[in-house]
Amino acid sequence: MTHSHPGYVNAEHSGSGPVPTGSTTSNGAPNDSDRNSLSVGADGPLLLHDVALIESLASFDREKVPERLPHAKGSGAFGVFEATEDVSAWTKAAAFQQGASSEVLTRFSTVAGEQGSPDTWRDVRGFAVRLYTDEGNLDVVGNNTPVFFVRDPMKFPNFIRSQRRTPDSGLRDPNMQWDFWTANPESSHQVSYLMGDRGLPLNWRHMNGYSSHTYMWVNAEGERFFVKYHWHSDQGVENIGNDQAAELAGADADYHRRDLFEAIDRGEHPSWTLSVQVMPYEEAKTYRYNPFDLTKVWPHSDYPLHKVGRMTLNRNPENWFAQIEQVAFSPSNQVPGTGVSPDKMLLARVFSYPDAQRHRIGANFTHLPVNQPKVQVNAYQFDGPMAYLHSGSQPTYVTNSYGRPWSDRTGPVENGWEADGALVRQAYDLRADDDDFGQAGSLVRDVFDDAARERLAQTVAGMMGQCDPQIRTRVYEYWTNIDAGVGARIEEIATSA
Ligand code: HEM
Repeated sequence: MTHSHPGYVNAEHSGSGPVPTGSTTSNGAPNDSDRNSLSVGADGPLLLHDVALIESLASFDREKVPERLPHAKGSGAFGVFEATEDVSAWTKAAAFQQGASSEVLTRFSTVAGEQGSPDTWRDVRGFAVRLYTDEGNLDVVGNNTPVFFVRDPMKFPNFIRSQRRTPDSGLRDPNMQWDFWTANPESSHQVSYLMGDRGLPLNWRHMNGYSSHTYMWVNAEGERFFVKYHWHSDQGVENIGNDQAAELAGADADYHRRDLFEAIDRGEHPSWTLSVQVMPYEEAKTYRYNPFDLTKVWPHSDYPLHKVGRMTLNRNPENWFAQIEQVAFSPSNQVPGTGVSPDKMLLARVFSYPDAQRHRIGANFTHLPVNQPKVQVNAYQFDGPMAYLHSGSQPTYVTNSYGRPWSDRTGPVENGWEADGALVRQAYDLRADDDDFGQAGSLVRDVFDDAARERLAQTVAGMMGQCDPQIRTRVYEYWTNIDAGVGARIEEIATSA
């Protein structure tokens, strides 16, 4: 038996291994041991007053917060955003004024996979950027594709469940994925991206990011513009094939996380050029299709890209849990000169993210260092679990007569829009060029080459073996609606298998 006593080197440490230099319990007092629990005699029962053991177990039992639903698997890094161009004609946001520089945190993710799932499963990738600006946090929480599967938020939770696991086996199921997609044809554009090469990026450094949604910019004169953000990888876009992805999923489930961390560690700092498409406010009213419909892109021929600046990721997290797992991105984080748009998906997200984060992290998640703005906060939210930032003895209420600042602007807000009409359940009025398959068809016909189309057909056909006959029939129809040639090819491969 070895005898342990604070200050004595335990016989277990007599070799060349690490030696203890002293920890404390959480009240700051010296801790006896991080290696032996307290018992009645060496062979005896444990004691409830072993504070160190009780604290260690209790803390372990609470070590995880619930994972994000969706986008659970991911990682990220810090860096800098530098505004290199003059875009003051469209926005007064301080972070976008030429010469401005803001700290950033960017997190990349898969959508459907859980923590621990392989980085190289075919999926859309999250691309969430936070700018810690001089006017508060500005988050652009987007993906590596410029569109999305649905245009009405009522469908979003159902869409996500169709991509996850069945209730009985707990397995992922292509049948329910295709059941959902084919019954919601507005998904066709995003599904074409997903089944195409961008569904398997080589790594996060070699993919683009998009706000996908339309946001608003407001200039110093109060003029409003609708914008879409594009982050183009300065490393170029590179993807991998199904075979390589499957091999990597087995060999290294954290392939993308590792790639980013190691690249930054060895001084290779990836960067992205930020550009925006800009639509003058009035044009949105008459554009040939609804510019707020998230299933559509704006053609660059109508709305070209205007360069804004560059984001460089140059600093890995010091603590992955504190800085990546607990970061709380949200499209609700806007600053003066930016805002949201009438996109219904975006408006729903403005509620959903902080709500999820109150559950996932806790009511006071904004008090954590990674979520704190770099500017003084003077919000009238009060107390709650784990309150850390506080207003001292200042008044807790508005209107107060004791000097604590409060706000009272009335009238139209500068980043708003006009709205009128009966209460209806309908995702947008159809305009002349609104349809569900047109842009998906252009993508697979005009952007993909023959080899990319064939890879897409092979990928989709490869999933048909796991689908019911009725779903398979709908899949062939769906792809035929996108492009007759692609639909026929998918059916040909699937039925000859
Ligand atoms: C109505 C539609 C949507 C809802 C209700 C929704 C909801 C959520 C929720 C609850 C989370 C987890 C947040 C957290 O716990 O921190 C999340 C994460 C995320 N969502 Fe959405 N989402 C929607 C659509 C979208 C769209 C259209 C995009 C991309 C354009 C997107 C991109 C992301 C990303 C990138 C994350 C991960 C953020 C991070 O890295 O922490 N989501 N979403």
